[in-house]
Amino acid sequence: MTTTRQTGALSFFKDMHPPTSRFREDVIEGLGKPQKAIPPKHFYDARGSALFDDITGTQDYYVTRTELGILDTIAPEIAAKAGAGAVVIEPGSGSSVKIDKLLTALDSPAGYIGLDISKEHLKAACEDLAARFDGLSVGAICADFTQPVPLDDLPVPDGKRLVFFPGSTIGNFEPDAAKALLETIRGWLRPGDALLIGADRVKSAEVLENAYDDSQGVTAAFNLNLLTRINRELDGDIDVGAFEHQAIWNPDLARVEMHLVAKRDIEFTVSGQRFSMKAGESIHTENSHKFTVDRFAALAASAGLDVRQHWSDTRGYFTLYWLERA
Ligand code: SAH
Ligand code: AVI
Repeated sequence: MTTTRQTGALSFFKDMHPPTSRFREDVIEGLGKPQKAIPPKHFYDARGSALFDDITGTQDYYVTRTELGILDTIAPEIAAKAGAGAVVIEPGSGSSVKIDKLLTALDSPAGYIGLDISKEHLKAACEDLAARFDGLSVGAICADFTQPVPLDDLPVPDGKRLVFFPGSTIGNFEPDAAKALLETIRGWLRPGDALLIGADRVKSAEVLENAYDDSQGVTAAFNLNLLTRINRELDGDIDVGAFEHQAIWNPDLARVEMHLVAKRDIEFTVSGQRFSMKAGESIHTENSHKFTVDRFAALAASAGLDVRQHWSDTRGYFTLYWLERA
């Protein structure tokens, strides 16, 4: 998908330099485990972010379309709840596409701040947003939101904060890490502020596995791009063609797992370290947890957040939750 971007001025761009050395440590440590595993945040180099955007346009990946449909319906209600002059903060903002619906509906928003680990993609998306919403103060923070983000030291405009965390990105974290991330976000909220968060629902294995193994092969390319990134950035010599993408629904843990499966016995070097895999062995690259409304409310409560309201599509595929500090 080719996107034509406009360029508007940002009110600030803060680069917290999410360390690329962590990429090396995570990969070396992860490839040394009995079940090899690499955290999904490392998917998002420039190519990975672009491939994620392409996934959202596939027929099989219902997630983005469904959430956008709910947002269309509820935007006026959200605007009424947020009130005039809200400041929107969006962690994992990616291409900042969904935010258009909210910003258009909100009454005189005082500002928008995108926060993402994928620097160039973040900067381009926020500059584009600044051009589209002339007069809106738009800032950007390149940071890893699993690490502390000192919002109070940054020029965040005054106003009621609405943290917008769409896409079910929360589902990419294991329960303890999801709780920790919600606690981090809770720390950004003051009394009266709110978190609007999207979380994907449990549904049939067929729908879920197709969504994560789309018929156009875009998700496969997204998954395999991680190996290309390792080769480029960590001096690797992995034969990418020796791996295949796999997506499986794990009903016991209520998550779709993505793996990169070795098609043959293989040896490779990354950052001077030698690794070997047997045919059929995999690198676990992502979990996408799916939630019932009750399970999501319990997770939120464990992080000190109350579900005050929630909205779903007619099929019950996806839910947006309005949370406030308990
Ligand atoms: N919010 C968008 C994009 C979701 S893709 C949507 O709903 O469609 C997930 C986004 O989170 C990507 O842009 C990725 O770069 C970002 N991301 C993933 N892990 C992150 C982390 N640890 N810190 C900051 N951003 C992260
Ligand atoms: C960003 N995240 C919520 C997506 C998901 O659905 O777990 C990433 C993704 N992985 C494969 N397809 C999309």
